[in-house]
Amino acid sequence: MKKALISGITGQDGSYLSEFLLSKKYEVHGIIRRNSSFSTSRIDHLLSNNKFKLHYGDMVDSTNLNSIVNKILPDEIYNLAAQSHVKVSFEIPDYTAQVDALGTLRLLDIIRKQKKTIKFYQASTSELYGNTKSFPQNEKTPFSPRSPYAIAKLYSYWIVKNYREAYNLFACNGILFNHESPRRGGTFVTKKIIEQAIKIKSGKAEELILGNLNAVRDWGYAKDYVEPMWLMLQKKQPDDYVIATGIGTSVREFVTKTFAYLGIIIKWRGKGLNEQGIDAKTKKVIVRINKKYLRPTEVDKLIGNSSKAKKQLNWKPKTTVDELIEIMINNSQKNN
Ligand code: NAP
Ligand code: GDD
Repeated sequence: MKKALISGITGQDGSYLSEFLLSKKYEVHGIIRRNSSFSTSRIDHLLSNNKFKLHYGDMVDSTNLNSIVNKILPDEIYNLAAQSHVKVSFEIPDYTAQVDALGTLRLLDIIRKQKKTIKFYQASTSELYGNTKSFPQNEKTPFSPRSPYAIAKLYSYWIVKNYREAYNLFACNGILFNHESPRRGGTFVTKKIIEQAIKIKSGKAEELILGNLNAVRDWGYAKDYVEPMWLMLQKKQPDDYVIATGIGTSVREFVTKTFAYLGIIIKWRGKGLNEQGIDAKTKKVIVRINKKYLRPTEVDKLIGNSSKAKKQLNWKPKTTVDELIEIMINNSQKNN
């Protein structure tokens, strides 16, 4: 039986990847941080499975990572752990680098010293392209990161490539574009929009307050995006792959679509910080801008080209942004 070790197992992707690998008959091990309250809500349904095991650890603690890897001797490691919020990385840049950059080095260096071949997946990101003017972005597009998060992830991208070339490690970068789901953290924009729109629709809230409405992202469904993580590690040779839908949607369009699904038509008026979204029927302002949600340096537009993954991994996305909105709304409504 193959063994996988997942860092970031309590996160959105960690939970879907665990389900996927269990369905492939893996024994799944995960690194979980000690927390003052429970942090396992996304994986609670897996805890009774005897092929699913958790180990306390932290990406900043190399002695602990070393013990975990040596104890399990996994066939594959999926490094999903990260301080994953771009805006927060401006507040805690040092910690973000410790986890998102050096954490990757710590794991790679443990693998390098093992006799056993341990394949490694790194959660790289479309944020690496940052300020790019090339559309859509593929594996050859130059990087131009715009945040402490993206710069930490750039270090990880390159250290994966370097260890692959220098020490012949089987290590891959999955350059994943934004992917969302009902399990998305509430401070990311899609989940925030959906949760608040549902509250506004049911009269439990008055307004949705956002930052930059013009940002364009290529939003896919997280459940579709874990299979290619595994596919990359099943190839004969390690390589790097873009995973994306190829379709860009602005934050403003995402808001319009979400409210439309709930039966509210939004009319936009004003510009910049004064832009407002008005409920066409009641004429009430239901969307406003607050500069506290703007970033010191913004990434305007990310749209990916995943032709390489399509050709070499035989992977393509299954879910459109409209279907994603429907999945997220239906799930939120069911649980409220
Ligand atoms: P997420 O929901 O924020 O999950 C992050 C995970 O990392 C959580 O399990 C978290 O644990 C763990 N973690 C954070 N700091 C840690 C530390 N110091 N030591 C150990 N674990 C730590 O993120 P996600 O959306 O699933 O994303 C997974 C990975 O893909 C991340 O590396 C992210 O940067 C990257 N990525 C995400 C996207 C996307 O659109 N979702 C796109 C490209 C790349 P707690 O539960 O204890 O906080
Ligand atoms: N979070 C948030 N909150 N974002 C907002 C808001 C708001 O109120 N208003 C507008 N936005 C804009 C952000 O400025 C950004 O341009 C866009 O919405 C998406 O923001 P997030 O959902 O926070 O995601 P992200 O694109 O910054 O980062 C996510 O995707 C990356 C891949 O491109 C994260 O999952 C990263 O970990 C991931 O690497």
